[in-house]
Amino acid sequence: MQISEDNSPLELTAEQLRHDVELTLEYLGRHITTLDQQPAWSLPQDATDEISPRENIPTQAIPLEDVLDDLFNHRIDPSYNPSCGGYLAYVPGGGLPHAAIADLISGILNKFVTLWQVAPGFANIEADVIQWFTNLIGYPAGSGGYLTTGGSMANWSAIVTARRILLGDDFFKGIIYTTAQAHHSVLKAAVLAGFPERNIRRVDTIDLTLSTRHLEALIQLDKQKGLLPFMVVANAGTTNTGAIDPLVDISGICRHHNMWLHTDAAYGGFFMFTERGKNALRGLELSDSVTLDPHKGLFLPYGTGCLLVRDVSHLELAHKVSAKYLPPFQDEEEDVDFCGISPELSRDFRGLRIWLPFKIFGATTFASYLDEKLDLSRLAFANISAHPNIETITTPTLSTFAFRYKPTGQLINDPELNEINQRFLTELNSSKQFLLSSTYINNKYMIRICVLSFRTHEKHIHRCLEEVARVVHQFNNSQQFNSLQY
Ligand SMILES: Cc1ncc(COP(=O)(O)O)c(C=O)c1O
Repeated sequence: MQISEDNSPLELTAEQLRHDVELTLEYLGRHITTLDQQPAWSLPQDATDEISPRENIPTQAIPLEDVLDDLFNHRIDPSYNPSCGGYLAYVPGGGLPHAAIADLISGILNKFVTLWQVAPGFANIEADVIQWFTNLIGYPAGSGGYLTTGGSMANWSAIVTARRILLGDDFFKGIIYTTAQAHHSVLKAAVLAGFPERNIRRVDTIDLTLSTRHLEALIQLDKQKGLLPFMVVANAGTTNTGAIDPLVDISGICRHHNMWLHTDAAYGGFFMFTERGKNALRGLELSDSVTLDPHKGLFLPYGTGCLLVRDVSHLELAHKVSAKYLPPFQDEEEDVDFCGISPELSRDFRGLRIWLPFKIFGATTFASYLDEKLDLSRLAFANISAHPNIETITTPTLSTFAFRYKPTGQLINDPELNEINQRFLTELNSSKQFLLSSTYINNKYMIRICVLSFRTHEKHIHRCLEEVARVVHQFNNSQQFNSLQY
């Protein structure tokens, strides 16, 4: 094919762009307006059509209409539906449409936002977003951070930073402390940061939060062995139950032993926009670094995480490598070169995805939605825990909690209860109007409910509570336990 200015299929006129975007919007519009009627989940075995097979690279052009038709009509389902209001599983996403509008803009403008000099107006947008977040959590001047692709990458970058600052190149004696309630990305991050698994200590918990007494004891023990305790990874909202570790006390221990405190607030951190969240997350600002996940607590599409560091010079010391072929780095602290404080060079303009929705809705709108999530989880907890046959572990501090079904008056051991609860959850999710997920806490299979989507409102919770009541009733009357030996 001959490419010329008049024949350049990759180039679009404004008219063609409008046409293609409008065509796409027809599909997206239908999707958004029917979200509440769509199932909250489906699995490959539910597929009515055959799942589209894997394909080789297309060599010939296919019209956009046909591609969109294939995508929207044959490839969306089966799938989980994290953007719908009934999605109460794992940590719900949301997918704020205005963030996608921001992505359209940044994708077409395609500025290089990683070095201040080459797009200062845009780099300042991203720097502002970071400063909004450092202000939110109460960090002092001199703090900073950058937007990652998610919480896992933020946890990894925090561990690498702590390692480089406190241990240097010879780090094999470095020990990291966390609890069994930490998200699995913490262990993965530690291993990817170069630590053998044996260097990760699991500190005991009290009410699912870190025991500072046990932490002290483990640190002393490791010091006696000639090891180097250098980091605690605390939780500010665990995935299992939203539990928050005693951050103030842990930070005291870290200061005493010259250790780095990283707090994983991927799920919980943005509740700082609410009064209740601020009270629950007291001490978050004492951490040396904090993971936040805007694609959780700010309802953004997946691919937006954040690492904040109390002293941004630490990020620079850990990440900065210059090269002769790059434009110069800035000397002014105000003018941020993101590639100098993070692992990536070329990357998408994540800042716009946050900046644009905040500009058009304002922070108070986000605060109201987060308050609504706290209210809804309390409503769900009050109702579910009132069933005599439901056992809960702790009251929700944030917007998630775990529970399990327990038949009355019968002695059933945990393995049997685990099996019963697996069936309970299958039945509970069977209407597909919502999806709850599960976890194991101290070897007990627990059902989790997490309210975080901006589309989840009282009617979704009511539907879910009606189903819980129905399934409890069904299980109470069921013959299935009679076969078990009580
Ligand atoms: C507490 C916590 N930390 C970290 C992560 C990992 O975040 P991401 O999935 O954005 O990598 C999650 C994910 O659910 C989480 O809940």
